[in-house]
Amino acid sequence: MSQVVVTGGAAGIGRGAVERFVAAGARVFVLDRDTEALAALRAELGDQVNALTVDVGDRDALAAAAGQVSAALGGEPLSALVCAAGVQRYGTVVETPDTVYDDVMTINVGGVFFACRSFVPLLSRGGSVVVVSSVQAYAAQHGVAAYSMGKGALLSLVRAMAVDHAADGIRVNAVCPGSVDTPMLRSAAAEFSGGRSTDEVVAEWGRSHPLGRVATPGEVAEVIHFLTSPAAAFVTGADVKVDGGLTAGLAVVLPEETK
Ligand SMILES: NC(=O)c1ccc[n+]([C@@H]2O[C@H](COP(=O)([O-])OP(=O)(O)OC[C@H]3O[C@@H](n4cnc5c(N)ncnc54)[C@H](O)[C@@H]3O)[C@@H](O)[C@H]2O)c1
Repeated sequence: MSQVVVTGGAAGIGRGAVERFVAAGARVFVLDRDTEALAALRAELGDQVNALTVDVGDRDALAAAAGQVSAALGGEPLSALVCAAGVQRYGTVVETPDTVYDDVMTINVGGVFFACRSFVPLLSRGGSVVVVSSVQAYAAQHGVAAYSMGKGALLSLVRAMAVDHAADGIRVNAVCPGSVDTPMLRSAAAEFSGGRSTDEVVAEWGRSHPLGRVATPGEVAEVIHFLTSPAAAFVTGADVKVDGGLTAGLAVVLPEETK
């Protein structure tokens, strides 16, 4: 049986990953700061889920959680670490307050770096790490300076870790989703709805992806699961776009296409 740690696993993409690993028969340690959502997840998915209330922005809490997971495993190694915990915050470089900048860097960047510091030593040979970055590591919307910077930093970390841990037989990869239908996306849709329903806003965002819709968390989880599997044995240091073609297109429309 494989043993997996998922940060931010109580909702959204992380939860999709938890469900995918549970379906594959894994024992999953879910780290999230939302205790209620963790309890609901465990009630729904059962004993394969081990819930730990942890704020990934707290490096001591991550180290303590690694100790708990290690004790629970009783000397067995970990198969995979999935870092999905993250927050979406807005602002240009001029408008972003210190508190917002610190939040994004502490959670989205530090939360991955220090989760890796605590859990990579528990991974087996053949084990792997998957980091959830974003298409915003490649191209930015307006007003997401800190978020985009953080997502780009994650791709550099993934490449650095892939090089450092290859000799230990540990692979490290990133997934870069486009828009995914999660509580985070729904809350952004509500914030920028301009009086429309969130469903309408999400559908409109979906139309900006060549495939014509946003992704489900399960579709991203499928790629995460693949990257941790032996089928991806020669894949490391990669960033895999799961974006419905969003970054394949240019926003240039020829006159005849507008007719
Ligand atoms: N939803 C999208 O469209 C989208 C697109 C690209 C990338 N992403 C990235 O995917 C990841 C997951 O996003 P999502 O849409 O599933 O978000 P979400 O808000 O729906 O779920 C995130 C989960 O992480 C947890 N979390 C947040 N901060 C935490 C912290 N400090 N410590 C522990 N747990 C914490 C939340 O409690 C929640 O359970 C994020 O890193 C996000 O940046 C999301």
